[in-house]
Amino acid sequence: MSRFVVAIDGPAGAGKSTTARRVAERLGFLYLDTGAMYRALTWKALEGGIDLADEEALGELAETSRIDIDSEGRGDRLLVDGDDVTEEIRTPEVSRAVSHVAKVPAVRRAMVRLQRAIANEGRFVVEGRDIGTVVFPDADVKVYLEASLEERAERRRRELSDRGVQQTHGELVEEIRRRDEIDSGREDSPLTRADDAGPLDTTGLTIEGQVDEVVRRVRAALEAQR
Ligand code: CDP
Repeated sequence: MSRFVVAIDGPAGAGKSTTARRVAERLGFLYLDTGAMYRALTWKALEGGIDLADEEALGELAETSRIDIDSEGRGDRLLVDGDDVTEEIRTPEVSRAVSHVAKVPAVRRAMVRLQRAIANEGRFVVEGRDIGTVVFPDADVKVYLEASLEERAERRRRELSDRGVQQTHGELVEEIRRRDEIDSGREDSPLTRADDAGPLDTTGLTIEGQVDEVVRRVRAALEAQR
């Protein structure tokens, strides 16, 4: 099947993962969560006691680790060197550290290579920070999801609480603000809207509302390509 990529980018907590997963389900596409890959490496770096300021060690880790995404369709389990770390990568410790790992150029090179290899064939919804700008600049549909910091922190609080992880609204505002700052300010592939990415402000929208809107954009693009 020829390649078709829907790139969904945006800051932390804008609803990218939920939206991307449901859009993929609705359209029968596969789903790739690139943030989970950076989180997996971060988990391994923390486990191994690697100094997060040691770029060389982090680059080496990225080159030598095996990251597998269960792509039995849903892509929702993540394995590092064969270990399932799907739950571990969502802890507050990993969330606090991940942007420091993700700003290292050698780490990004290895992850982008892997992302391209995975999504290069078939129909994919790919979600992250640099998908429309760097990983797939020629994506068929590009969406940039946004929402106010307050709303993003509140959504994340509820999502974590549903999984039994308690963090306060205030802590999450601080964590997300800090992460956005590092992600947007880094030199290599900063978080930014691609010129040709359609913005979608989800403040006040329901998940169904945002899924409907992205599906509408994808259907229009599929129609236009026929
Ligand atoms: O789900 P959430 O918005 O919390 O973040 P995520 O998508 O799991 O991404 C975690 C972190 O990985 C981000 O804060 C970025 O530092 C990094 N990341 C990146 O640099 N490039 C991507 N394509 C995806 C994530």
